[in-house]
Amino acid sequence: MVQEVIKIRGGQTLNGNVDIHGAKNSAVAIIPATILAEEQVTIDGLPQISDVETLVSLLGDLNIKTDLDGTTLNVDPTQIENTSLPNNKVESLRASYYMMGALLGRFKKCVIGLPGGCQLGPRPIDQHIKGFKALGATIDESSDSSMKIEAEKLTGANIYLDIVSVGATINIMLAAVRAEGQTKLENAAKEPEVVDVANFLSSLGADIKGAGTSTIKINGVDRLHGSRHQVIPDRIEVGTYMCIAAASGEQMRINNIIPTHVESLIVKLKELGVDLEVGEDYAVINKSDAFNSVDIKTLVYPGFATDLQQPITPLLFKADGVSFVTDTIYPARFKHVDELKNMGANIEADQGTATVKPSTLTGTDVYASDLRAGACLIVAGLLAEGVTTIHNVKYIHRGYANIVDTLNGLGADIWTEEI
Ligand code: EPU
Repeated sequence: MVQEVIKIRGGQTLNGNVDIHGAKNSAVAIIPATILAEEQVTIDGLPQISDVETLVSLLGDLNIKTDLDGTTLNVDPTQIENTSLPNNKVESLRASYYMMGALLGRFKKCVIGLPGGCQLGPRPIDQHIKGFKALGATIDESSDSSMKIEAEKLTGANIYLDIVSVGATINIMLAAVRAEGQTKLENAAKEPEVVDVANFLSSLGADIKGAGTSTIKINGVDRLHGSRHQVIPDRIEVGTYMCIAAASGEQMRINNIIPTHVESLIVKLKELGVDLEVGEDYAVINKSDAFNSVDIKTLVYPGFATDLQQPITPLLFKADGVSFVTDTIYPARFKHVDELKNMGANIEADQGTATVKPSTLTGTDVYASDLRAGACLIVAGLLAEGVTTIHNVKYIHRGYANIVDTLNGLGADIWTEEI
């Protein structure tokens, strides 16, 4: 079978502007959330990535009329049918689990395949299930490939998440907006994507208070209408381009950002010695010659994002000493380490921590194990001597719109080939 690879001849200096797209992790929740609307909805600012296409196609399977025109999606859910969704599209991405909360809210019932997504180690959904059960649903998990979730009626409840989970917080909100009475969700995730989804649901007529704090109160309503919503900028895409700029930029300006969403990264980049100036909705990064070693520990928002620990790692090869990267959210998210070692990097991962020593990288064949590992290999490839060939680029296309063209426009020697 023909497969696409990304090739990078490293060592070029990048210059110019990057415009950030809409947030993948908002988009992949807001698209399923349109199921709750009983009138037309328009979503603007969607990133042009394969996860968006897959979810739009899943809406089609529910007989929802969709029109995806560039970054704008028009959704007409008036002919919706609650069909079973135990198919390979559901299994191809993690965020298909949002179909559960949305269908449960709208129809009090859904039959759906088990979510897949990037292999970051164990990714249970027990907190989602706990929330659905608290709202009155029963779950039939007797099938190996799908799950049936049903409720006579949904009733608001007090739910305390045992683990702070973005997915569980959003999924429980999706169901609770149509429950009878109040749901109080405690120990909720505070990520900006949770707030964006809550704002979207509120624009449909939902009554949600406290999104962005650890306690969210949702008063159920009888019906949700239509609306138009603009997706927030992708803070992980911002962070990835900040890492690229710090690694290889002469001067790069990153536009359409919300600086507070990337505060923990900005602080860490400054600690590293990156020359970074932040404006109201942009950042400019200038070339810096020497980096300090730093320690990074991923935490829930507003801590350092797990999705950025892989892209920032290649910068640490340029530091003057040993750095440590610890992922407390996904302690097994270190599959990029072997690939970096193949490029000559002095890096070891053990029990959720990578030890990173100053290294020079040489281009070779490397394999992306997940989306952000792919981003890490792009940063590494830009820094390496010679040509790096990145395989499994389907992961990169899941989350980064036009990244090859964008980097080319900035002066990188990067191209795709079919092998
Ligand atoms: N967890 C449980 N039980 C649950 C849910 C989560 O034990 O029921 C654990 C997870 O295993 C993990 C931690 O809780 O250790 C946090 O997981 P969370 O539920 O917050 O992650 P998620 O919702 O599945 C989203 C993003 C990920 C991002 C994480 C953490 C989407 C579609 N995915 O995943 O994004 O890494 O939050 O911020 O929003 C990516 O974009 O590359 C990506 C993987």
